[in-house]
Amino acid sequence: MTDGVYVSDHPLVKHKLTHLRDVYTPPTVFRRLVRELSLLLCYEATQHLTLFDTTVETPMGKAAGQHVQQTIGLVPILRAGLGMVDGVWELLPGAEVWHIGLYRDEETLRPVQYYNKLPVEPRVQVCLILDPMLATGGSAVATTELLKEWGAKHIRFVGLIAAPEGVQAMREAHPDVPIHIAALDERLNEIGFIVPGLGDAGDRQFGTG
Ligand code: PRP
Repeated sequence: MTDGVYVSDHPLVKHKLTHLRDVYTPPTVFRRLVRELSLLLCYEATQHLTLFDTTVETPMGKAAGQHVQQTIGLVPILRAGLGMVDGVWELLPGAEVWHIGLYRDEETLRPVQYYNKLPVEPRVQVCLILDPMLATGGSAVATTELLKEWGAKHIRFVGLIAAPEGVQAMREAHPDVPIHIAALDERLNEIGFIVPGLGDAGDRQFGTG
């Protein structure tokens, strides 16, 4: 496995991903699976968060405890990344959400930005980029560049399925950004879709296919 690339080997992730890939899974179930998989992958992607010590009053007395130190920003890449926010939010209810709108030009496969809701100054210490698909890697590379220009220091990419081409593009452009995914697939096809993949994650979530 490439350094900095974490492919989950959790049985629940594999089980849910299999349902997600299934061409017969309808949008209602697809959306639930995206949410659940995002939660499970977020659990893995947050294992490096730092803690500070505190104490808490229990019904029986005082207990030593810890709280997460860093503030966290979720950066979903529209559209498909939107479906990942709810699952991650269940684990990180205090996280801020900053939307980035990109679509892939169907001819060039290059990302085209149409929306950016980042505030002028970075307000969070850790950014989790959320996008189900890492295909050519163009969208993830461009979003990471935006976040770095903005001043983000600790960035992680959380996705569901990646192609080797996308992983390589991210590792070359941003070797400091860890990649957390449910599966690393075989390849991209001639129109830039991940094979075997799951089709178009945006269309399958929003019923627009
Ligand atoms: C898909 C997907 C990623 C991007 C991945 O979005 O959700 O954002 O393509 O491809 P890349 O790694 O080659 O950049 P799409 O352009 O279909 O837009 P959508 O999410 O709005 O459907």
